[in-house]
Amino acid sequence: MLIKMSRPSDCNESQVTPEALYLSRRRVLGGAVLAGAGALLPGLAMGAAPGAYDGVAPSAAPGWFRQKLPDTRWQAVTVQGESITPFNDATHYNNYYEFGTDKGDPARYAGSLPTEPWSVVVDGEVGKPGKYALEDFMKPYQLEERIYRLRCVEAWSMVIPWLGFPLSALLKQVEPTSKAKYIRFETLVDREHMPGQRSGFALINWPYVEGLRMDEAMNPLAILAVGMYGRELANQNGAPLRLIVPWKYGFKGVKSIVRITLVEQQPATTWQQIAPSEYGFYANVNPTVDHPRWTQARERRLPSSLFSPNVRETLMFNGYADEVASLYSGMDLRVNY
Ligand code: MTE
Repeated sequence: MLIKMSRPSDCNESQVTPEALYLSRRRVLGGAVLAGAGALLPGLAMGAAPGAYDGVAPSAAPGWFRQKLPDTRWQAVTVQGESITPFNDATHYNNYYEFGTDKGDPARYAGSLPTEPWSVVVDGEVGKPGKYALEDFMKPYQLEERIYRLRCVEAWSMVIPWLGFPLSALLKQVEPTSKAKYIRFETLVDREHMPGQRSGFALINWPYVEGLRMDEAMNPLAILAVGMYGRELANQNGAPLRLIVPWKYGFKGVKSIVRITLVEQQPATTWQQIAPSEYGFYANVNPTVDHPRWTQARERRLPSSLFSPNVRETLMFNGYADEVASLYSGMDLRVNY
C-alpha cells in the first residue's frame, strides 16, 4: 500500500470535503463554535472513513479553546490513503495507567478528573521560567490539526486527528540556555481522582515522566496537543495537554502535563526505569528491532477483531522517516531502541 504523508509545511486546505464528513464535523464542533468557524473549515483528510467523527461527544471545551478554534489551520499535516480511526475507538481503547491498566479504565474513570483550572510549570535551563494558567500558556499559539498515525509499543495502532501546536514554538518562547540538552515532561499526580495512583499493585513510581532530546523536540512533527477530532482532548486521551511524537511508540506521548523542564542530562523516564531491556529512551517505531517478547514488524490497526484483525506492516519511524531519520544518523538503533 502506498502511504504518502504531506511535509509538515504542506497545507491541504484545497482538498474537497465529502459532505457527510463536513456535516459530521459540524456536529462535532457544536453550534456555538461553528457559527463563526464554519466557513473556514476545509474538512477532513481524503482518507477519512465516513463516520470517523460519528459519536463525538458534544464539546465542553473551556472558553480559551473555543476562542482559538476558528483560527485553526485544519489539516496542517495529514496522512493519505488511510482512514481516521473512529472516535469511539480512540476514546475507549486507551493506555493511561493513572486510571488503571485495563484498556477501558481510562474511559471509565478519567471523566471526573478536574482539568480546569490547569497550570503548567516551565523550569530548568530556560531564560523565562514560570508557572502559567493553561489559557495564558496557550495564548501565543495558533492551533493546527495534525492527522498522525499512533503506534503503540504493544503493536496496535490508530490514525488520530490531533489539535495542537509545535513544541518548537514553546521552546523558542521560553529561551533555552546553552545547557538545555533534553526536555522532561511530568504528568499530574492526583491520588484522589486517579485510582491507578492509589493502587498498591502499580509498578509506576508516579509521576509518569517522559523526555526528548532537544533536537527531537525541535522537529516540526513534535506537538503539544490540546484537542482531537475537532474538539478538546477527552480526559482519557490526556486532557488538557499532552505530547505527540508520531515517529515514536505511543508511550512517549505523556498525558495531562503539569511540568516541562529543560535539563542537561538525559531524564530517567517511566518505562525505561521499569523495564530497561524492553523500553528505551528513544522508543522510535522500528519494525526491524523486536520487543524481547513480541515482533514489532506488524501492527493491528484499530478497529480490529478476531474475525477482522486488520493487521498491517509497521513502517520505519511509523512512516515519518523522511522527516526524522536524520536525527539518528550514525546511531545504532539496536542499541538505542
Ligand atoms: N501518559 C501517562 N501519563 N500515563 C500513561 O499510562 N500511556 C502511554 C501514553 N501516555 C500513558 C501516557 C501509552 S503506553 C500510550 S500507547 C499512549 O499514551 C496512549 O494514548 P491514547 O490512550 O490517547 O491512545
